[in-house]
Amino acid sequence: MTSPWNPAQYERFSNERTRPFLDLLAMVAPVPGGRVVDLGCGTGELTRMLHEHPGAAETVGVDSSETMLAKSTQFAGAGLRFEQGTLETYRAGAPFDVVFSNAAYQWVPGHVALIPGLTALVAPGGQFAFQVPANDDHASHVVAREVAAEEPYRSALGGYERTWPVMPPEWYAETLDALGFAAVNIRMQVYGHHLESTAAVVEWVKGTYLTDYARRMPAELYERYLVRYREALLSRLGERSPFFYTYKRILVHARRA
Ligand SMILES: C[S@@+](CC[C@H](N)C(=O)[O-])C[C@H]1O[C@@H](n2cnc3c(N)ncnc32)[C@H](O)[C@@H]1O
Repeated sequence: MTSPWNPAQYERFSNERTRPFLDLLAMVAPVPGGRVVDLGCGTGELTRMLHEHPGAAETVGVDSSETMLAKSTQFAGAGLRFEQGTLETYRAGAPFDVVFSNAAYQWVPGHVALIPGLTALVAPGGQFAFQVPANDDHASHVVAREVAAEEPYRSALGGYERTWPVMPPEWYAETLDALGFAAVNIRMQVYGHHLESTAAVVEWVKGTYLTDYARRMPAELYERYLVRYREALLSRLGERSPFFYTYKRILVHARRA
């Protein structure tokens, strides 16, 4: 099966998607000569900035999608490299001085096991930093699930229901504290995006949340799903131009004692 991740679609809102990355990056302290891993690195463009910002000697970007990684070669070099792998099993080269991830952990179910498992990658004194979307209750996501529950999509999905693994921010704080991390710093931030119109929300969600449905439906049916989703979303949110799209995200930074 080809990957539903489409760099061109994802990058349509690259300015908006870069803002939380930069906010997370600002939480990371320099690690001159250190080693960094970027889990779910995507195209690698932001990994290049991650590599340069803390002055790392070596950074590895890891992603499971061949199509996203195809663009990464242009950013590799000078201590930065990319590998195909899944973030839940990647352990090569651990421990790292910075274990970083921007907008990827929401794709992996079971954060109760995932997060403690990932902290094993962090060196003593090292930093654990990640950002996950927490916008599952916005109409953009609610309507996507409602339409997926309608026929014929429901049958095509074989009863699959999109569940959201992201936990409340307090859970990440308590878990990292219990694991012995110091200076646990967690933020819930609302990002506001002035999109061209309500319909632009469909283009945004197509680049991320809906990839899960795209991978599970035949292409022709997914196109029908998109038409129905657009109609239902515009009716829920109203047709506005511009449209102010709010997007909540959790930013986490902690240091291993
Ligand atoms: C929303 S993109 C974020 C990409 C990049 N971090 C950024 O900020 O632009 C999510 C990325 O996570 C990757 N991904 C999703 N599940 C993954 C997994 N289990 N292991 C590795 N990568 C994964 C996808 O292939 C995609 O490139």
